[in-house]
Amino acid sequence: MHFNFNGADCTWYGFWFAFGLTASVFLLFSAAVSWTLASVTREHWASVAPIAWALFASHAFHVFLSWRYFFAGPGVFSTVITALLGVGAFRESRAWPRLRLLADYLSGRFPLPYLQRALTIAKFEPGVYEVVESFVPGGLASWRAHAGAWRQSGRHACPGGRGLVMSESGYILKNADAVASTRLDVLASIFDPWTRAHLDARGLSAGWRCWEAGAGGPNTVRWLAERVGPTGHVLATDLDPRWAAAAIGANVSVLAHDVTEAPPEGGFDLIHARLVLTHVPERERALRNLAGALRPGGWLVVEDPDPDLLPLSCLDGPDEARELANRLRASFRSMLAARGGALAFGRRLPGLLSGLGLADVGAEAYCPVVHPSLAVLDRLTYEQVGKGLVAAGLATEAEIAEHVDNVSCGLVTPLMAPLITVWGRK
Ligand SMILES: C[S@@+](CC[C@H](N)C(=O)[O-])C[C@H]1O[C@@H](n2cnc3c(N)ncnc32)[C@H](O)[C@@H]1O
Repeated sequence: MHFNFNGADCTWYGFWFAFGLTASVFLLFSAAVSWTLASVTREHWASVAPIAWALFASHAFHVFLSWRYFFAGPGVFSTVITALLGVGAFRESRAWPRLRLLADYLSGRFPLPYLQRALTIAKFEPGVYEVVESFVPGGLASWRAHAGAWRQSGRHACPGGRGLVMSESGYILKNADAVASTRLDVLASIFDPWTRAHLDARGLSAGWRCWEAGAGGPNTVRWLAERVGPTGHVLATDLDPRWAAAAIGANVSVLAHDVTEAPPEGGFDLIHARLVLTHVPERERALRNLAGALRPGGWLVVEDPDPDLLPLSCLDGPDEARELANRLRASFRSMLAARGGALAFGRRLPGLLSGLGLADVGAEAYCPVVHPSLAVLDRLTYEQVGKGLVAAGLATEAEIAEHVDNVSCGLVTPLMAPLITVWGRK
């Protein structure tokens, strides 16, 4: 049947045939786009998410049209496609890890503090679920076991426990800050394997008495407690031990203690301090305290960065983004130095340990260049010190926001200063 449409001679057959082909071409195109989207990494998902959701919305409209004007065949087909697109886009979105974390929390797999920390990271990192999972040895399955320790730590009357206000002198990355515990966990995910290998190499075994000074979070403390077993003991100290307190247990005690003050009594088989002395203005006195608390034959293991050995924070990437990353890192370091932090302490440690009369002194450096947690650590660090940098006139809010965006979309990959691990025996 012929009819006139805007002056053209049309047939119903031609009209519907052309419309059908137009829809088929659109479907082929959307299949190609969906195929391409499926291979986009999480890191770059944010930039393609609008395309995915637009595709989902147009298919959802198709579902409506199909059920309203066509018949069951195209209705079912378009419904299945739309549902798959929606699930795919949602799984890549930032909401997905949050939802999974929430489900884990509601099902009692881990307690509130983990949820809060995980959500803090999820804010920055769509692919954070895997990173968070790596926080707890044994993965998510063991979070339930850790729930007990968290609750227990809340009940313990621990000197310097939750809620106590500490004097933290010039230390800028305060444990009381909102992102501090997450940042400590991220530090652990970067450095724990290296640290543990060195502590094991010192012969750490059942029955040892250990002192973890400037413990920060509970990870190393818990690990030491497992290694020394019920016949050993671990003392964890920190200016502000609110996070280390989560490790309190039968063979673990936690104290608020300034490492520059008189050391705890008793004589230790192993004393370990990581990323602590570099922040302490009276670091040589602190080192003397640590060495003085060893029992004869006991090991001291000290780990501190040496940022001056590697002043760059970013080796690769577009010029502008790389320069911004390096400039901000230099500003952060000058703020650390202004607050009494040391930028070239790691290299001095072997000489200082020998000077304290320790024997069998050895040292190694660790410098992760690509690691999934480095970007998270960088963002958390600016979250924690950004306001201070702006207040000191060392950076602007816009520069920090731009850098955090650059890191989020993978334009630049930040790296750490080398960590110098030094050991010596009394
Ligand atoms: C960068 S964090 C490192 C934490 C942990 N050692 C690690 O490697 O994950 C530094 C820690 O040292 C603690 N700290 C800073 N100055 C201290 C001092 N004078 N005495 C004891 N702890 C101190 C801080 O409270 C913080 O927990």
